[in-house]
Amino acid sequence: MHPTASTVKDIYCSKCSRRFDINEILNLCECGGPLLINYDYAKAATTLTKDSLAGRANTIWRYEEVLPVQNESNVVCLGEGGTELLESKKVGQELGLSNLYFKDESTNPTGSFKARGLSMAVSRAKELGIENLIIPTAGNAGSAVAAYAARAGMRCKVIMPSDVPEPFRVDCDYHGAEIEFVDGTIADCGHRVGELVKSEGWFSVATLKEPYRIEGKKTMGYELAEHFEFELPDIVIYPTGGGTGLIGMWKAFDEMEKLGWINSKRPRMVSVQTEGCAPIVRAFESGADSATTWENPSTVAAGLRVPGAVGDFLMLEAIRKSGGTALAVSDAELLSDTRELASKEGVFAAPEGGATLSALRKMITAGQVEKDERVVLFITGSGYKYLDVLK
Ligand SMILES: Cc1ncc(COP(=O)(O)O)c(C=O)c1O
Repeated sequence: MHPTASTVKDIYCSKCSRRFDINEILNLCECGGPLLINYDYAKAATTLTKDSLAGRANTIWRYEEVLPVQNESNVVCLGEGGTELLESKKVGQELGLSNLYFKDESTNPTGSFKARGLSMAVSRAKELGIENLIIPTAGNAGSAVAAYAARAGMRCKVIMPSDVPEPFRVDCDYHGAEIEFVDGTIADCGHRVGELVKSEGWFSVATLKEPYRIEGKKTMGYELAEHFEFELPDIVIYPTGGGTGLIGMWKAFDEMEKLGWINSKRPRMVSVQTEGCAPIVRAFESGADSATTWENPSTVAAGLRVPGAVGDFLMLEAIRKSGGTALAVSDAELLSDTRELASKEGVFAAPEGGATLSALRKMITAGQVEKDERVVLFITGSGYKYLDVLK
């Protein structure tokens, strides 16, 4: 056994604060709240110092003290994380901004930020002796879990909407996943997962319905701090469906403050959704603490067609506490901006990534961005998976 440097302590419920043993196999808390992981931050801070980072692997695993995997042999890695922060060459100038950046998650294994979360969830599943994983997905999470399960030698079942872009079906199939299609949205796929968990005994790795995906995704927050030499940017614009990217980074900021890496200043967190599916925007605008289900969701940005999110209250809390906002853009706007990113910056984004630029335009029009502020757009996935939508 080669232990990692993990300082993981226990698991707690984000709603009722109940605590659980770290070696329990868990989905949601009994109260319905998503579960989060707690570490011994004082201990982590003794070895996970800013100076220690230079010699570490350029993957999510460089932050191992604040990651939950305890035995090195359980780490299932395909090189996830360590993505580029690209400085805008043209679009920023056109918008009158001097500090616009793109965090390019499209270069992750399987082409999206989902690799971070699923690498962690599959690694912990391996550590806990789980052998069969099931997921409801809009596409990218399915690709990622299929790849990591293949690498770990686990069985995997992917439940997707029947109108998912074709490349997702193909790569899940090549990675050896069992695939089932559902006529409907990811929410309908989620119901089907619930049935199969009961009838066939699969372990669900649905967004925020197990505690480890978010631990992988939070590494985007750690990387941002490193990119900006521990002075976090002013605005982070993120396309949100289930919202774990945003919630994960928010957790990372809190952890880094505990590690003594950053102060209490946070970026304004901006959630982007589409006009055809905007439950978080609607809740944000109405002042609600949680969101109601969006009826008849429709958008070409498959990852944003999420009518309801189990972590809605966590997203809304992060947006509000940070002084951020939530806004919806149209499919026409996000498709046009996906082309802008490719033609002017050389970044071939998933349409969800294009949506962040559309959101930035709206914020500028509304006077919500200062010219010199450091703004980061999250290009969460690659355009190559969406060729049937982008053509
Ligand atoms: C490319 C892309 N961006 C953003 C999202 C939304 O991510 P989350 O559900 O974690 O909010 C997804 C989800 O499928 C996605 O595939």
